[in-house]
Amino acid sequence: MSFIIAIDGPAGSGKSTISKILAKKNNLIFISSGQLYRICSWFYLKKQYENVDDKFINEINKLNITYENDSFLVNNKNIGNELISNEVSMHASNLAINEKIREFVNLKINEIFKNKDIIMDGRDIGTKVFPNANLKFFLTASLLERSRRRQKELKQKNNTKCSLLKIYLEIKKRDKQDKNREIAPLTKAKDAIVIKTTNKSIEDIEKIIQKIIDEKR
Ligand code: C5P
Repeated sequence: MSFIIAIDGPAGSGKSTISKILAKKNNLIFISSGQLYRICSWFYLKKQYENVDDKFINEINKLNITYENDSFLVNNKNIGNELISNEVSMHASNLAINEKIREFVNLKINEIFKNKDIIMDGRDIGTKVFPNANLKFFLTASLLERSRRRQKELKQKNNTKCSLLKIYLEIKKRDKQDKNREIAPLTKAKDAIVIKTTNKSIEDIEKIIQKIIDEKR
């Protein structure tokens, strides 16, 4: 039987950073499901689509998406750095309201990670993707703190300088859209454990979650 940990929460709540560390310690595969939405968004923008029609769905289905060293590869290429811009982030959220896109992502997840021991972060992992996950966490942090973290990430990964206000407004808009969409909105699963991450170090958050994992495994 596979062991699954679901980590949900809004952008910048620390999900991916913590999940990556916990994956190594617990011998689990780390997956950020948002990367798949970002790949759809990147492709949509690159090919200048104007709506999600059957042609678009057909084309994304033709992409060869694989997984290696914590990253998705698209046609054998790691396009990680092209997925973190504000534009790709915002469009990922726009596309994520679409049922066909969600179906595509969830089928990919099932295809690549079936029967594997995983820690997956996202928005609907505990509620929809793995409702029977062994453990579920819901991470939160203030909007300002999350914006600061994202600004730092953009600087580190993409060497992009972006104003805090711009990021703050973008995340606020994305939160609103992710929480209020009809299908699989961002929400805490009933049985998820809430971890407030504002003012906590990565080590502190990791310790709290690791203790819970040790009790469960
Ligand atoms: O987690 P990340 O910021 O990379 O996700 C990008 C966008 O993908 C989110 O804003 C959200 O709209 C969408 N997403 C989703 N469900 C998931 C993961 C991400 O709708 N499980």
